[in-house]
Amino acid sequence: MDRVKLGRTGLDVSVMGVGAGGPSQMGKRSGKTEAESASILLQAFDAGVNFVDTSENYGTEPLVGLALKDLPRDQLIISTKKSSSDAKAADVAPGLEASLSRLGTDYVDVYNLHGVWPGDYRRCAEELYPELLKLKEAGKIRFIGMSEKFNDDMEHEMAPMALADDIWDVMMIGFNLLNQSARDRLLAKAIQQDIGIQVMFAVRKALSDPDHLLTVIAGLIEAGQIDPADIDDPNDPIGFIVHKNGAVSIPDAAYRFCRHEPGTHVILSGTGNPEHLKKNIASLERGPLQTEDVDRLKHMFRNVDSITGQ
Ligand SMILES: NC(=O)c1ccc[n+]([C@@H]2O[C@H](COP(=O)([O-])OP(=O)(O)OC[C@H]3O[C@@H](n4cnc5c(N)ncnc54)[C@H](OP(=O)(O)O)[C@@H]3O)[C@@H](O)[C@H]2O)c1
Repeated sequence: MDRVKLGRTGLDVSVMGVGAGGPSQMGKRSGKTEAESASILLQAFDAGVNFVDTSENYGTEPLVGLALKDLPRDQLIISTKKSSSDAKAADVAPGLEASLSRLGTDYVDVYNLHGVWPGDYRRCAEELYPELLKLKEAGKIRFIGMSEKFNDDMEHEMAPMALADDIWDVMMIGFNLLNQSARDRLLAKAIQQDIGIQVMFAVRKALSDPDHLLTVIAGLIEAGQIDPADIDDPNDPIGFIVHKNGAVSIPDAAYRFCRHEPGTHVILSGTGNPEHLKKNIASLERGPLQTEDVDRLKHMFRNVDSITGQ
């Protein structure tokens, strides 16, 4: 598994990160036992993955803590998050202490404000960020980050405010081959500022469920965000990326598309299924998709900014 620098943090991170939230929550949502869920992280670590993202909201911090009992703490990069919308300044330090206790560690590598929406950004920067800074100075956080509320902010309205302030060392962004709007609206500036970028929503439902993909594409055509003339096979609109020298499957294409996008560092993969994890590790170890396939995806989805891929 390749390692890269997580932007200006200098942290040495694997290009794949275990996402402990999303629809799977490390298998918690599909009824896996705690030990089975924890083994997802152990399996990933054995394959060279050193990054995990969780949150006080997911209910998976204890599962990461369980896995951590069998892992060398100094070789794992832990990212967790504090809810932003309902948090007051006084909630930040106790929130971190509770996360540390559930994780069974005395510091986190990246502490993020979770799901910052545009209308709340200024309050987060002025009231919550100073509290995060104090925790960083106390050695409990190595780097401060934040995530977009992509479900409600698919057009990246919040990101320009965060980039203008230039106080966040890491950002978690929504990006996938269907909604590539982060490239121009966010990543171009993040590259200049050397911000560490975690990608969420690389696959989700639209890129792991062919029937759902057809529904999503039909909606995009109706919304005028895809030109039907760009689609050769309406029953398999992006099937052209799977071929002998191309992707091995749509999820494979989806992870590799994000992995090789300039400006991205850690691609989060959320799964509770050990077989999917194995495939996703293999995908993130593969090289870029063929240039003509990537160019065609860029052209086909060039106007899309109204979906997450869920
Ligand atoms: N605003 C935020 O801060 C925010 C929001 C969302 C997510 N996140 C973070 O981002 C992480 C990544 O989340 P994501 O949901 O966007 O992850 P994702 O990897 O894009 O999608 C996960 C979904 O795809 C399925 N899947 C994964 N690999 C598959 C494969 N090889 N074949 C078929 N289906 C596959 C999973 O189901 P199976 O379990 O069946 O594999 C799951 O339903 C989350 O875990 C969380 O840490 C943050």
